[in-house]
Amino acid sequence: METILVTGGAGFIGSHVCETLINLGHKVICVDNFNDYYDPNIKHKNISNLVSSLNQSNFVLYEKDIRDKEALLEIFEKERPNKVIHLAAMAGVRNSLNHPELYFDVNVMGTLKLLELCKKFNIKQFVFGSSSSVYGDNLSLPLREDLLTNPMNPYALTKQVGEELCKLFSSNSGMNIVCLRFFTVYGPRGRPDMAIPNFTKAIIQNKELTLFDAGALTRDFTYVIDTVNGIIASLNLNHKFEIINIGNGNNIPVKQIITLIEENTSNKANIINEPRKPGEVMHTKADISKASALLNYVPAVSIEEGINNFVNWYSDVVENEENKDSEENN
Ligand SMILES: NC(=O)c1ccc[n+]([C@@H]2O[C@H](COP(=O)([O-])OP(=O)(O)OC[C@H]3O[C@@H](n4cnc5c(N)ncnc54)[C@H](O)[C@@H]3O)[C@@H](O)[C@H]2O)c1
Repeated sequence: METILVTGGAGFIGSHVCETLINLGHKVICVDNFNDYYDPNIKHKNISNLVSSLNQSNFVLYEKDIRDKEALLEIFEKERPNKVIHLAAMAGVRNSLNHPELYFDVNVMGTLKLLELCKKFNIKQFVFGSSSSVYGDNLSLPLREDLLTNPMNPYALTKQVGEELCKLFSSNSGMNIVCLRFFTVYGPRGRPDMAIPNFTKAIIQNKELTLFDAGALTRDFTYVIDTVNGIIASLNLNHKFEIINIGNGNNIPVKQIITLIEENTSNKANIINEPRKPGEVMHTKADISKASALLNYVPAVSIEEGINNFVNWYSDVVENEENKDSEENN
C-alpha cells in the first residue's frame, strides 16, 4: 500500500483517480479547495461514496488550497505521502481568457509551491496533469510530444509553464516527474462547462445549444477511465522526466458527438451556429505511441460506448436529481 496525495481529487478526473487508487488498496490524501468555478456541491457528490465508505480510513479529505503553503506543509508532515498526483487547476480555456491572473496564480504559482514541498519531503514520483492545449493550432496531426508547442490562451500557457517547472524540479531533486497531456476527457461526473455535458443537458431538456464552426472542430475525445489508467500506470514509471500524451488517438468532429447524443436520447438538438471563438483550437488528435511504449497504455472505450455510458449516467444521476430538487421546491 502506498500513500498517494491527489490534488484536485474532488474534481471530475480526480474523483475517478481517488476511487481507483482506493480500489487498488492505496491510501489517498485528497486536497481540494472546492472552488466555485462550477457548483462545489457537484464536487462533494463526486467523492461522497469515498467519504462515507467503509474504507474511510484509507481516504482522507482536506479542504485546502494548494497555494496555502502552511496548510500543505501540515498535511505533508502529518500524512507523509510517497507519491503525488497533481490535478488541481483552474481548468477551462474560455474562462482563462477573462481571468488570466487567477489561472497563473493557481496553475503556475500553486504548482511551484507544491513542487517545492514535494522536493522538501523527498517525494519519489510526481504526476502532473497537463493538457493537449499546449500544442495549439498545430498542422501536423497526430500530435507528438516532441512537436513545438504553441499555447493559444492563458490556460494553455499555464500548463506549458507547469511542464517547465516539472522539468526543472526533476533535475534538481530526487523526484521522477511525468507530465501527462490529457486530451478532451469525458465520462460520468464530466465537468459541466465542457461540451459533452452541455450538449447532453440541452438535448435532453429541448434547449438551444451553441455549435462553433458548424461542428467542424475535431477533438480527440478520451473516456475518463482510459485517462485514469494512464495516470495510474505513470505512478510506476521509473524515468527522471517524461511528457506523455494520454488520448484516445481518434479525431471526432464535434457534430458527430451531437448525432451520437441524439441517438442515445431519441431527441433532436436545437442548434445555434456561431463562428469559432478566439483561443479555440481547430483540431486535436494524439499520437499515443509513447504512452503505449512506456505505460502499456491502450485506450479501451470507443466514442459510441463512451457517449452511451455518459448519457445513461447523466439521465440517471443529474436529470433525476434536478427533477427531485424541483419537486421538493414546489
Ligand atoms: N477534463 C479535461 O478534458 C482535461 C484536459 C486536459 C487537462 N486537464 C487537466 O486535468 C486536471 C483535472 O481536470 P478536471 O477536468 O477534472 O477539472 P475539475 O475542475 O473538475 O478538477 C480540478 C479540481 O481542482 C480543484 N482546485 C482548483 N484550484 C484549486 C486550488 N487552488 N487548490 C486546491 N484545489 C483546487 C477544483 O476544486 C477541482 O475540484 C486539471 O489540471 C486540468 O487542467 C483536464
